[in-house]
Amino acid sequence: MRILSIETSCDETAIAVLSVKGKDMKCTIESHHVASQIELHAQYGGVFPMMAKREHAKNIVPLFLTALKDAKLLTKLKKPAKLDEKKIGLMLAREPELLEIFLREMPIVKKPKIDRIAVTVGPGLEPALWVGINFAKALSLVWGIPLVPVNHMEGHVLSIFPKGKKEFSMDKMLLPAISLLVSGGHTEIVRVKGVGKYKIIGQTLDDAAGEAFDKVARMLGMAYPGGPEVSRLAEVARVKNLPRDFKLPRPMLHTPDFNFSFSGLKTAVLYLIKKLGDIDEDTRAAICREFEDATVDVLVSKTIKAGTREKAKSIIVGGGVSANKQLRKVLEERANSLGMAVHFPVKELTTDNAIMIGMAGYFAKPAPLSSKKFIAQGNMAF
Ligand code: KG4
Ligand code: ZN
Repeated sequence: MRILSIETSCDETAIAVLSVKGKDMKCTIESHHVASQIELHAQYGGVFPMMAKREHAKNIVPLFLTALKDAKLLTKLKKPAKLDEKKIGLMLAREPELLEIFLREMPIVKKPKIDRIAVTVGPGLEPALWVGINFAKALSLVWGIPLVPVNHMEGHVLSIFPKGKKEFSMDKMLLPAISLLVSGGHTEIVRVKGVGKYKIIGQTLDDAAGEAFDKVARMLGMAYPGGPEVSRLAEVARVKNLPRDFKLPRPMLHTPDFNFSFSGLKTAVLYLIKKLGDIDEDTRAAICREFEDATVDVLVSKTIKAGTREKAKSIIVGGGVSANKQLRKVLEERANSLGMAVHFPVKELTTDNAIMIGMAGYFAKPAPLSSKKFIAQGNMAF
């Protein structure tokens, strides 16, 4: 089965072509492209949904054509095909930039050998999600290719399978598993009993872990997204063995549930910065280290607790924050000492991409174009 996948839930426009073969679900990444909007949003210190939407609408067709070409699936027609401009116009009415490029480019593109189109329908920023959904619907209409709705978070769970090479296998996960999904918008603990069998058993009650990293970074004068820079400075503090003269709270560390709260931790950092007044480079690094340690402490502790209660054989981590080295180190140590395997995505696939959407799309069922499943669901749960 060859799957074209489309992802526009936040600030990355991503398209991939994936083929899946045989019982052991051998996958080949035929192409994989991500257009990141980070530089644009960095100027404003965060992602504005309407700005993200416009960028997706502008970039998605060129990115799609590049992805097709890369997969050797792009054939230009000598005689342009006649498209149902009225229907497409209605589908893309809210994305005029996209409509214009679509009607210009698509008549000369020959239908490629693709068996289904997978698209992220949620969770995420609704205006951004709509661009991918409407584009996928228009493609499906023009070419008569079945369309599959995908939950973005399922993509993050499956993103542990590719190992950095073009080919990989979606072989069995060690089940049951506990998945820790940590990004700029989500912090969730999910029980995984099999592909498609997910249950959220804990989540943040306020800010997401990545959001806390970004806010702390901003307080310390760093650019968006701040996670990697906070983490880099934390490492500097560890290497220099800088004194730890202050302690930040570990919110909800000992509550019996699997929920999190990061907003109090963020406020504690704000008060600390105010109290310290003039902050030199070493103090900045020491704050980053204490903040990272506090965050990692609660993430690891709750994940291990969930893994123990659920008798998990493995722990699966996904989302932007899963790139965090300290999280990787501490979680691996704790889980391995308890006999649980830990799986992280390769670094490139910690952030949003369409390979993971293609994988989830392989397991999901196609739905008719008129289905309510193709409505952007900002708060979609499992
Ligand atoms: O999954 P993602 O790319 O986008 C969504 O939010 O969906 O996650 C981005 C988040 C940002 O908040 C970013 O600061 C954080 O992941 N992040 C990190 C690291 N790399 C990215 N946080 C901590 N340590 C990192 N190394
Ligand atoms: Zn994501």
